[in-house]
Amino acid sequence: MGRAFTYVILGGGVAAGYAALEFVRRRGDAAPGELCIVSEEAVAPYERPALSKGYLLPEGGARLPAFHTCVGANDQLLTEDWYNEHGIELILGMKIISADVRRKTLLTSSGETISYKTLIVATGARALKLEEFGGNGSDAENVCYLRNIEDADKLVHQMRSCPGGNAIVIGGGYIGMECAAALVANKIKVTIVFPGKHCMGRLFTPKIAEFYENYYTSKGVTFIKGTTVSSLEISSGKVTTAILRDGRRLPADMVVVGIGARANTALFEGQLVMEKGGIKVNGKMQTSDASVYAVGDVATFPVKLLGGGARRFEHVDCARRTARHAVAAALDHPSGPAGDIDYLPFFYSRVFALSWRFYGDNAGEAVHFGDLSSSSSASSPPKFGAFWVSAGRITGAFLEGGSPEEYEAIAHAVRSGAAAPDAARLAREGLAFVVRE
Ligand code: FDA
Ligand code: NAD
Repeated sequence: MGRAFTYVILGGGVAAGYAALEFVRRRGDAAPGELCIVSEEAVAPYERPALSKGYLLPEGGARLPAFHTCVGANDQLLTEDWYNEHGIELILGMKIISADVRRKTLLTSSGETISYKTLIVATGARALKLEEFGGNGSDAENVCYLRNIEDADKLVHQMRSCPGGNAIVIGGGYIGMECAAALVANKIKVTIVFPGKHCMGRLFTPKIAEFYENYYTSKGVTFIKGTTVSSLEISSGKVTTAILRDGRRLPADMVVVGIGARANTALFEGQLVMEKGGIKVNGKMQTSDASVYAVGDVATFPVKLLGGGARRFEHVDCARRTARHAVAAALDHPSGPAGDIDYLPFFYSRVFALSWRFYGDNAGEAVHFGDLSSSSSASSPPKFGAFWVSAGRITGAFLEGGSPEEYEAIAHAVRSGAAAPDAARLAREGLAFVVRE
């Protein structure tokens, strides 16, 4: 049994939704057999970031259909009906179990073959499991990961099952920090455990991390750093205690795990060239096979701003932009992108009353500015940041509590590679250095 499409988008996450909208904008409605999206998830593409923020609110949490793509970019809300109305076939709840790039076919878990002329791989990433680090307990009733709606529903259910209880958060990255804030909002006592010296180790400087750790501490969160949970004690299918490597025992009513992600490349290993944990693509998001594009978390692409070096990002802005670029390139429309993607890396997070953005690359010397000492009880909202300076130019910028104009200004400074003054002046002037009246 088989079906044939001109274009197939494999994966139904953020990148898939933005790719579909770009397709319709450039091409109009799809003709029968022209475009399908195959997704393991049971729902149409949605804005995944909502899962660790609005979805976890104690009251009035965000629920579908309100956060389908592409509302995260203040664009159209693409419900399932939208796909139907525009001739795009959504094949939901369907896992692709193998791919044959030479034959241009995909095999579904139900045994169907889907063939394509052009494939856009948008399989995203998966959460790493405790067992992959020698741990245990992933299957326990009260151990939560967070990657999809099912995970988020389980997390909400667990939070509601133990009001006032103890949560152990394993990992001090994006998931750990955002979920810890949500747990606090749900009146659960939080202990975060991670092996590094400070939270958000891949991005934050020790000074920036100290601000957020102090802020979280003032909200009642406990940090245990420089160690890991070596095992989880389980009774009747539920974790009761987390045991640390140093022997400490922490009582647990629930556990949230955020120990990193791995790109879903397995279907294409040995068929497409891989780099830096992802599928290697060129500036048109085209893989080593000219009929296959890769976008979003799974794609490793050249970043002009970083000297053309190949990079892979696990962030939503990248998923949106690479998806649009790949569709434009694949359709080869006269109004398509003039050339290769020119991406400015952009990450953000929102927790409690805080909100930060980062642009560029956190390489070089970090120069902090603003008041990093304020706490959650301070009368004015915190505002501070850092510039990263390399070879006399601003290569990265972080800002907490900025206005849209200020974020735009730091983004512009990074994109234009603004010449940096000496560190003392940059620290003193801070935002004023990039925000011109
Ligand atoms: P995404 O993971 O969105 O989608 C992949 C899709 O492929 C899924 O539908 C999956 O089921 C499907 N799939 C995979 N293998 C398949 C197979 N074999 N067969 C069929 N389907 C398959 N970023 C940011 O910048 N700011 C933020 O605030 C957040 N917040 C955030 C919260 C949470 C909880 C998570 C998990 C992630 C974030 N992110 C984020 C990261 C951001 O969501 C992420 O970078 C994008 O979702 C990536 O989009 P993709 O489409 O590449 O993958
Ligand atoms: P992460 O890489 O941000 O953080 C992983 C954390 O786990 C780090 O603190 C690390 O020190 C810790 N860790 C690693 N191994 C460990 C171990 N064995 N035991 C305990 N801790 C360990 O990954 P994440 O927080 O799991 O996020 C997963 C994905 O979701 C990423 O792709 C991330 O970009 C994405 N995400 C992004 C946002 C955002 O951009 N605002 C929000 C949520 C999720």
